[in-house]
Amino acid sequence: MPRLKDFIDTTFFTKDELMYIIKLSLALKKCVKNGYFPQLLKHKTLGMVFEQSSTRTRISFETAMEQLGGHAQYLAPGQIQLGGHENIEDSARVMSRLLDIVMARVNRHETVENFAKYATIPVINAMSNYNHPTQELGDVITMIEHLPPGKKLEDCKVTFVGDATQVCVSLGFITTKMGMKFVQFGPEGYQIPEDRQKILADNCKVSGGSFSITEDADEALKDADFVYTDVWYGLYDDERSTEDCLKIFYPKYQVTDELIKKAAPHAKFMHCLPASRGMEVVDEVLDADYSIAIDESENRLTAMRGLLVYFTPPTMVNKDAAKKAKKELKSLLKKNKK
Ligand code: CP
Repeated sequence: MPRLKDFIDTTFFTKDELMYIIKLSLALKKCVKNGYFPQLLKHKTLGMVFEQSSTRTRISFETAMEQLGGHAQYLAPGQIQLGGHENIEDSARVMSRLLDIVMARVNRHETVENFAKYATIPVINAMSNYNHPTQELGDVITMIEHLPPGKKLEDCKVTFVGDATQVCVSLGFITTKMGMKFVQFGPEGYQIPEDRQKILADNCKVSGGSFSITEDADEALKDADFVYTDVWYGLYDDERSTEDCLKIFYPKYQVTDELIKKAAPHAKFMHCLPASRGMEVVDEVLDADYSIAIDESENRLTAMRGLLVYFTPPTMVNKDAAKKAKKELKSLLKKNKK
C-alpha cells in the first residue's frame, strides 16, 4: 500500500504504520536525550497554520524542526490570507511551492481536509473540532513508557472520564486501533457520537480491542491502567459557561483521588492539558505522583520528531544533477562578469 501523503486521521493508518512512527519517535528521543541531534530535516521548512492559540503543539513542532536541522514558520491567526481574502485551494497550492510540509490547527475539520486535498506537500492535522491525531501519538508513547509491569499495550484498559471532546474521540481511535480496552465514562448527551463509535467498533474488529460507554463509575474505572480526562467546555461552536459545565459534569465526572482509587492500584492519570484545575480534575490528582500529564506534554515533542521525519524523509542528493547545476551556475557567473 502506498504511503499516505498527509496525517489527518489515524483511522486511515494501520496499526503497523502507526507503530512504525511511534518507534521512530522513540528512537529519535533516545538520540536527542543522549545529545545527538540527527539533521534529518536539514533544509526543510514547516509552515505552522494556527486558527487558535496553542502552547504544546506550537512549541513541540517548532522545537522538533529546530533540533533536527529544519526551520518552522509560525503563521498566526489572522496573519496569513487563508480563511480571509484567499481561498483554501489557492493558499494550499501556493504554500506547497514555498514550504516542505504544513501543520494546521483549525476550527473546522473540513479546512484541514480541503487544505490537504489541494496541497502537494504533506499536511499534518494539529487538531480540529473532530480529532487530535498528534496528541494520540504522544499519548501512546507516554503509555508505552508507563506500562504496568508485565503488561503490553494490548493488555491495558484506558478510561476517559467526562465529555466526548475531540481528544476523547481521538483517544478512542488510537487505543482501539492498538487493541486496548477503551471506556468512556460520561453522561448521556455528552458521549461519543454514533458515527465515531462505528469507527471504534471497526478498529476493535481488526485489533481485538474493545470499547464501551457507561455512566457507572465502578464499571468504568474497574482495573483501569490509565485514567484520562479533558476540559468540560465543549467544542468551539458549542462552548459552555462554567455554570453549565458544573451542572452537567460536577461532581460525578470530576477526577478526584477517590475516583482514581476505583481504578487499578498502579493506575496513572493522564490529561492532554491545558487543564481547568478544580473543574474536570482537582490539584491533588494533577499533581500526584501517579499523574503523567507533564510526560504527555513532553511526548508531543517526541511524536512530532517522528512524524516530521516520516512525512518528509531525507532526500538523497542526486550527484549528477548537483554537478550540472554547479557548472551552470559557474558559467552564468562568468558571463555576468564580462
Ligand atoms: N494538548 C494540546 O494540544 O495543547 P495546546 O492546545 O497547548 O497545543
